[in-house]
Amino acid sequence: MSTNFRTIWTTPERDIEVIDQRQLPHEFVVVKLKTYKDADLAIRSMTVRGAPLIGATAAYGVFLAVRELIEKGHEGAFLDEAFSTLRASRPTAVNLFWALDRMQAALDEADDFLEAAWNEANLIVEQDIETCRLIGVHGLPLIEAIAAQKNGAPVNILTHCNAGMLGCIEWGTITSPIYQAVQKGIEVHVWVDETRPRNQGANLTAYELTKHGVKHTLVVDNTGGHLMQHGMVDLVIVGTDRTTRQGDVANKIGTYLKALAAKDNNIPFYVALPSTTLDMEINDGLREIPIEERDENEVKYVIGKSKAGKIEPVLICPETTPAANYGFDVTPARLVSGLITERGICEASEKGILSLFPEFK
Ligand code: MRU
Repeated sequence: MSTNFRTIWTTPERDIEVIDQRQLPHEFVVVKLKTYKDADLAIRSMTVRGAPLIGATAAYGVFLAVRELIEKGHEGAFLDEAFSTLRASRPTAVNLFWALDRMQAALDEADDFLEAAWNEANLIVEQDIETCRLIGVHGLPLIEAIAAQKNGAPVNILTHCNAGMLGCIEWGTITSPIYQAVQKGIEVHVWVDETRPRNQGANLTAYELTKHGVKHTLVVDNTGGHLMQHGMVDLVIVGTDRTTRQGDVANKIGTYLKALAAKDNNIPFYVALPSTTLDMEINDGLREIPIEERDENEVKYVIGKSKAGKIEPVLICPETTPAANYGFDVTPARLVSGLITERGICEASEKGILSLFPEFK
């Protein structure tokens, strides 16, 4: 890996620092989180985003709340309020709820609340790094097999949104197999969907692929079908915010259309995920996954750097035109070729998931 940063880290004073992802790729700005409300705001404002990173930030948010409780002598209700505030920060990525439940369980067992919260949040971060590395180990053979079939010609991978290291801590989910393939000298080229409305592809995936020296080309969101029809995509890999027991996949809005185009063109469509993104409590993704609806201004305005060097929002429609801003869509399991997890690749089905994770029976 040619970057020397993580997306979230701790300071000697036990404050938390994150990269302000709203400023990328133009500026690398670090934001300090000193209170649980800072962590909550970082998630809501999408200073941090991506399912695993949302979970890690919420976990540190609980640590910060415990510290505030002790230092300021708050009542126990303060901690309950912190948990419910963080729980309401974003609805779709299940890692948020997973991380908060894990922090709650650690506190329930603890004598020393502060140390327990600190250790558990750090553990969540370290485990995510190892999990993402392993997703790469298991995803790599998919890329190697295509490279072998193509006699070493570049493997063209299409991705949507950012499921890279910036959505996690290190490695990323979809990028882990890609970075490991590149490290092994395999020629890889990534088609990067810009991912309107917030442009996580253009702003974040393109940024981290550049940092890692991975060849890539930015395309507008509607280009994927055309590329697939013309044999210019060998493999689609996307991330996910929540994957159900039957293998339905919620991911950034527009993912479903890529899956349909991949199916029509017989192109493998894989989803890379840590098991922390599985929601085994629900089956039917279409009916049961809450889909975040965000501010219409994210659709009506595009934020970018002007030629004069100023980062500013630009209105792209009549000011009075209403806009709908659904953050995610659900790709039914039948369109998914497989799930790439830290324990291997499985079919997107209950049977497939349980074959790797029998503890979820
Ligand atoms: O709205 P975002 O930027 O948080 O959405 C992120 C995604 O949809 C990612 O693909 C997903 O969280 C996986 S991140 C490894």
